[in-house]
Amino acid sequence: MIPTPIRPGMHVTLRQLKVFESVVRLGNIARAAEELYLSQSTVSTQVKHLTEVVGEPLFQQVARKFVLTDIGADLERACKEMFASWARFETAAADAKELRRGSLRLACVTTARYFIPRLLGLFSDRFPGIDVRLEFANHHNVVERLARNDDDLYVMTMPPRQFDVTAQSFLDNPLVVIASPRHPLAKMSNVSLQRLAEEPILLRERGSGTRMAAERYFREQGVELNIKIEVGSNEDLKLAVAGGMGVTVISQHALTQDATRPQLAVLDVSGFPIERSWYVVHPGDRRLSVAARTCFEFLEREARGILASTSRALGTEAGDSRLT
Ligand code: PGA
Repeated sequence: MIPTPIRPGMHVTLRQLKVFESVVRLGNIARAAEELYLSQSTVSTQVKHLTEVVGEPLFQQVARKFVLTDIGADLERACKEMFASWARFETAAADAKELRRGSLRLACVTTARYFIPRLLGLFSDRFPGIDVRLEFANHHNVVERLARNDDDLYVMTMPPRQFDVTAQSFLDNPLVVIASPRHPLAKMSNVSLQRLAEEPILLRERGSGTRMAAERYFREQGVELNIKIEVGSNEDLKLAVAGGMGVTVISQHALTQDATRPQLAVLDVSGFPIERSWYVVHPGDRRLSVAARTCFEFLEREARGILASTSRALGTEAGDSRLT
């Protein structure tokens, strides 16, 4: 059907179009009047004025029922498109308003402290109106926060299976074995897990995700670990290893971008690095705020690229084993 040309300079009001759309959708004037809190005579008058402006009948009577004419059907289509477009605009305007003064609560596992601040720095530059409250805790404690619904988003590896969560991976998190460069294993290639297990092992505290992953890996390989010391932070762990107290399993992220990096060597151990991923997580049933959704999408789409370029600038690319 060739659409009837609209006369230029046609002066219709938004209200007339709303009334028309409502009459068509609800099938009669009385219901439209009820929906719009108008009298029936006002609705009839609005439709009459609209018909006059268009200059063609919008309805015709067929077997005692009013049906749309061709031009009436064209107008209905135009109204639908216009109102849908207006609704999209309203949503975008509300989102923009929220982004100008929103807030975001983010809980991250401790090892994420090696890259999350760099990402949030850029996020805050881009969305300066969003106030970010950032908490770091070990894996166990972050999962507890998630169970209590304390925060908007969580950054961790191993998203919990016991809850309904939405989890999106956004970055690699390889785990490597490190020791002092003076350690006998530092000069060996393809060290077996059995040989490694003969060494005193230092690990993070219970509840650490890194520790859980390391223990699980050795268990799956049937190798028992000789855990000598537990250390409550990656930084203290690195110092203890640099001091010659033993070997440890640690995220490669903990070895990059560290000006006071102690002397450390990444060992060539069979099966390592253990390949894992960082996830941004939220409870599956939680409707995200605009700020949280924006941050979720920012991490998902941009984290990898941002960190690759900032690491290049700092000369500390993940995978760089020249740590001594
Ligand atoms: P962690 O978690 O900082 O608690 O060790 C890190 C991870 O899960 O990889």
